[in-house]
Order: sequence, then structure tokens, then C-alpha cells
Amino acid sequence: MTTTPVLADTAAYAQAVEDAKQAAAAYYAGGTSPLDDDAYDRLGRAIAAWESAHPDQVRADSPTGKVAGGAAEGDVPHTRPMLSLDNVFSAEQFAAWAASLERRIGRVVERWSVEPKLDGLAIAARYERGRLTRLVTRGDGTAGEDVSHARGTIVGLPERLTEPVTVEVRGEVLMTTEQFEAANPIRVAHGGEPFANPRNAAAGTLRAKDRPYRVEMTFFAYDMLPIAAADADGPVADGPAVDPDGLDELAHSELIARAVALGLHTSGATAVPGRAVTGTEEVLARVAEIAALRAELPFGIDGIVIKADLAADRHEAGSGSRAPRWAIAYKLPAVEKVTRLVGVEWNVGRTGIIAPRAVLEPVEIDGSTVAYATLHNPSDITRRDLRVGDHVMVYKAGDIIPRVEAPVAHLRTGEEEPIGFPEACPQCGSEIDRSEQRWRCARGRDCHLVASLSYAVGRDQLDIEGLGASRIVQLVDATLVADVADLFTLTHEQLLGLDRMGETSTENLLAAIATARTRPLGRVLCALGIRGTGRSMSRRIARHFATMDAVRAADAEAMQQVDGIGAEKAPVIVAELAELAVVVDKLVAAGVNMTEPGATPPPPPGTETESVSEAPIAEAAGPLAGLSVVVTGAMTGPLEALSRNQMNELIERAGGKSSSSVSKRTGLVVAGEKAGSKRTKAEELGIRLVDPDEFATLLGDFLPA
Ligand code: IVH
Repeated sequence: MTTTPVLADTAAYAQAVEDAKQAAAAYYAGGTSPLDDDAYDRLGRAIAAWESAHPDQVRADSPTGKVAGGAAEGDVPHTRPMLSLDNVFSAEQFAAWAASLERRIGRVVERWSVEPKLDGLAIAARYERGRLTRLVTRGDGTAGEDVSHARGTIVGLPERLTEPVTVEVRGEVLMTTEQFEAANPIRVAHGGEPFANPRNAAAGTLRAKDRPYRVEMTFFAYDMLPIAAADADGPVADGPAVDPDGLDELAHSELIARAVALGLHTSGATAVPGRAVTGTEEVLARVAEIAALRAELPFGIDGIVIKADLAADRHEAGSGSRAPRWAIAYKLPAVEKVTRLVGVEWNVGRTGIIAPRAVLEPVEIDGSTVAYATLHNPSDITRRDLRVGDHVMVYKAGDIIPRVEAPVAHLRTGEEEPIGFPEACPQCGSEIDRSEQRWRCARGRDCHLVASLSYAVGRDQLDIEGLGASRIVQLVDATLVADVADLFTLTHEQLLGLDRMGETSTENLLAAIATARTRPLGRVLCALGIRGTGRSMSRRIARHFATMDAVRAADAEAMQQVDGIGAEKAPVIVAELAELAVVVDKLVAAGVNMTEPGATPPPPPGTETESVSEAPIAEAAGPLAGLSVVVTGAMTGPLEALSRNQMNELIERAGGKSSSSVSKRTGLVVAGEKAGSKRTKAEELGIRLVDPDEFATLLGDFLPA
């Protein structure tokens, strides 16, 4: 549940009122609020809480006393006040509210109407004798701005109703996702800043009078009331309305059906139609249904509105100055937050699509922390003029992948940097095909192959010298290699037939491949690129099982016996290995080593384990048995040529466990030249320190020749 901040004193209260007013004013005027929905709601609740504790100190300009925004001079008075809604945020709060309503009217509410709370702007559309005459915004609730100029741009708000009735239709104007995506490029093309989200876009668009371009919005009717007809073409009279249609006596569900019959658009035409239900249990079930569909809707909703359906219940409950007592907004958690774009990563998918991903300052949205979001494609970045350092609106709901909506342009400082686009495929270095909106590696699906082969032959895996990315591209293009095992069956003729491949390089490459056949199992496993395993995990698996046969025979339970593999990872590794069966068979057939030197396989499952200690046998032997070892600084002497990965391999072969940080559990620190803070920490903790030479002596026979 969202918490309500507590305002400490009168000054904090005054500041909160000021902030809320500014946010509301910015929202209504420019269409972009500096506070996101959640922050605005929290502020409002904090103000309301303070006011109920200090009723004598309530400020006249508090947003709780009236509808935020304020009416400007020249505004059109509303026939009846356009009220807001009170909010609840949980099932318990809803139940308490429903109970209080039932207490007030002295009976159970027989029927409820449950409908989406559309995330747009309230508008009153006046029809006289069936013709649309005026559009008025909510303004301060008693008078609003005339926005009749927007007529003709709002889908669902016809110029003529199907019957010549005189009514005021109230509802929400918004931009659907599609309309928003179409509107922003048009606005940018005319020199405007892109809108941050559909609601801001609708607010800005509705009020803009003299734009040289038109963009479309959508109307959803949620109320209808009788108004007094004017003379001929004049404005609607302020006098009392007659109600020939008996609108005020209709159940809400009947009123909406009538609106539909008149040709108006309502939520009835969507995947989340308003529905009349019986009892609060059914209300909550419908709330859950609508909430579950939220992420897939082609328009924004920020909650669910629950209304007493029957006219008698509504009349009896009446309204307060701000909100009716017969309706409530069940707010859903905010799904949009403003955060900073700190960078852009370019990832290549299995089909070769090169997709930008936003790296964000982590932000909590809809119950989870969002640190990355999708950015669609490069032209989208250009169109929205996104820059690194921008404040961006991030959208996330349910299980959908979070997405960056747009930069919040008015929060720019001038320090923002352009986003760098890749010159070559970030995965395999090949050319990029830019002929479509979504960029693709020119190698398509083969890009993945080139990248995985490059990884497999890398220094810490099979370590095949002379097999750089361009050579791999050649091999893939010539269809000589379709997986890592094919490398081991390449022939002299095949290699010699490649461009820029002479006799000497062919011999050298074949020799390097032959050496690669003797790599320990840990490196072979690593070369396979099993999801969820890197160098050290592959080594641990190899040391635990000792042979590829034992690794392949392991089920998820056996796999979990490996240090660091939990219930989640184990089945993934087992499944990946099964998928790679053909490649592994090919590697075996090609004579690639499938054992881990110095390791002993665990007993097969079901073997009597009494005499065997609980500790995995494979890890017991060697001069570093049971020691957690940290290597820091530059290695010298016999260890100088070893990479960090090779050092780690060595430590593990000698029975130890390599670690990157010094703690109380560290058993030994190998401090080379220029060792810094890790050495100091080891000294402070009294951990045994050795230099590279002493370490080499300690390793004795385990040192590579
Ligand atoms: S009924 C007197 N129904 O939410 C009752 N309002 O936060 C007034 N809204 O001012 C509104 N969807 O702009 C109602 N299905 C719906 C709505 C809805 C969106 C808006 C409306 C209202 C605001 C209150």
C-alpha cells in the first residue's frame, strides 16, 4: 500500500499546498506536471490528513477544497458542478467506504456500477436538439474553459446525436496509445517538444487554440444530464433544466445505455466495459478483472470507478462540495514514474535485431524496481529527441516490459548528451542493416552464431589463437561451421580455401585447434555458453562432476549439489545441456577432452553415502583445500603470464575457492605488485598474506609447467 507522508508543521503544510498547486497549474496549463501521479496523490493525501487534524488552519487555496487548477476569468459556468471523486487504495478501504454509504442511506446498495477510470480530462459536451454546440473543460468544477475549437478532432463525440435531444454529456477525453504515437511526431515536426505521455498530450491538445496541425483524441461518456434549451442558436440558458427524458431518474447503467443509443462512445465498446454487479464481493472481482487487463488496454486508466447504480441510492446519498457520496475511485498503483536515463545499451536478439535498451536510475513502479526499459528502435529515439541524462517518463504495468514514454523536456538542464548509435553490430562487429525501422545485424540469425563462436574460442574458454571475429564470419559464411564442434573437424583444404588464408596460417590454426582439444572440462562447458553459467560456475560444475558423462547424467537435484546452483538455476542448466546434446556428442566424437583434471566424480545417486563425508569429495584435495583465496595486484615470477581466470582455475584445481573480496571468511590473500585496499583489509583482519613467489611455492606440483 502507498504510504501517506506526514506534514510536520504549518510551514510544511503551506509548502505542500504550494507544490500541489504548482503541479496542478503546470498540468492544466502546459500539459506537463513535474510530479507523477503517485507523488501528486501522496501529496494530496498528506494535505488532507493535516487539514483534518487542523481544521481551523485550512488554507483557502488548498487543492482539497476545490478541484485543482482554478477557473480563469471568462470561463463558462457549469450547469451543475463538475465534481471530482474521492479515492480508495485497497479492498479494505473500499469496504469501509461502501459500509459508510450504506449506513448513510440506511439500506444495502442493491446494485453497483463498475467501470474503468479513464486517464484523461473531464469535459462537458452540450448538445442542443441533437447538435453539438459547446465543449467546456472542468476548470475549477464550477466553471470551465470553452474548448469548442476542439470539435471535430474527438472520436466518439459526434456532431449530431441520433435523436434531437438537448443534453449535456460528460466524460473523459484522452489519447489512445495509437493516437499518442501518431501525435508526437506531428508535434515535433512543427517544432514542439514531444509530450511526455498520452494524458499530458490530451490536456495540451484540448486547450491549444491556434495550432497549425490537428491531432486526434477519443471521448468516453460517463454521465449525462438534462439542460435547459436555449433560444434558436444562442447559448444554453442558465435556467432550470427540464428533464423530458427522465435522465435523472435512470440507473447509471441505463443512462450509459441511453448514451450509446444516442451515438456516444463509452467504455462499453472496450475490453473493460462498465458493468452492473450485485454486492461488494462482485465489485471487487470486477475491479480485479479490469486491473488485470490494464496493461493490454490501448488507452490509459488510473483506477476503477464504482458507483451506486440506482437513482434512488444516488439521490439519497447526495454529494459533498468536492465529490459525490455515491461514487468512489478505486485507484490503481501509478504505472508511470519520472526517472533519469543514464545510458543506452544495444542488444542483439537471436534474430539479429539490434534493440536499444534504456539504463535508468532505478525507480519503484507498480511494486517492482525498474532499472531498464525498452526504447523500441533507433528512429523512435531520434523522433522523441531523447538524450542521456534526460528525465524520462517510464511506464510499467503488470508483467509488461517497462517502456520509456518520452523525455520530460522542461526538466532539461542543458547537460544532456546525445545518445550514441552503434556503427557496427555490437555483438559480432558486422555491418548493420538500417533499411527498416528496426535495425538488424546484416548477418541476421548468424550474428548469434558468430558471437557465440567468438565467445567459445576466447582466451578463457577454448583459447584458439588465430580465430578472430572476421575469420569466424568467413567460416560461417562458407557454411563450414554451424556450431562450436564443427571447428574441430575443419580440414586443411577447407581452411586453405578461405580468403587471406595461406599455408602457414592454416597450419597454425589447425595446431591451435588441436591444442584446444585438450582443454579441461570446465572450459569446454564454458565454451558451450550454457545460460546462467560463466567461467567460474562452469569450473565448479566440472570440478563437482569431473566428467562430461557425469554432468550429462545429472538431474536438477544432482545439479543443485554444486556450490552456487540453486533450485531456480539447476533445471535451466539441465535443460540447456539436453538441448546441446548433439553439439556435445559431436565434440566427443571430435576427440575433445571431456574430463576435469584432478577432480573425482561424485558417487552415482542411490549409492550408500555413510562412509563418504558430507563434503563433496571433488573439492577436498590439494594444498589450498577448503581455503577461500583472494588474488590482488599484479602477479610476478612463475605466475606472471596467467590471466585472472587462469589464476582462478589454478586455485580451484588446488582445492581452494577463488573470491574477489576480502572478508572474515577469506583464508589467504595473494598480494602482488601495487596491491591496494584488499591487502590493507587483509592486514586489518589478520588474514594470512603471501606474495606471488610464496604462493607459487605453496602450489608446488599444481603449478602449470
Ligand atoms: S464519474 C460525479 N466516471 O475521474 C462523478 N469519472 O478523479 C464524476 N473519470 O473528474 C465523475 N473515468 O474526470 C467518472 N468512469 C468515470 C471516470 C471518471 C474518469 C475522471 C473524471 C473525474 C475524475 C475524478
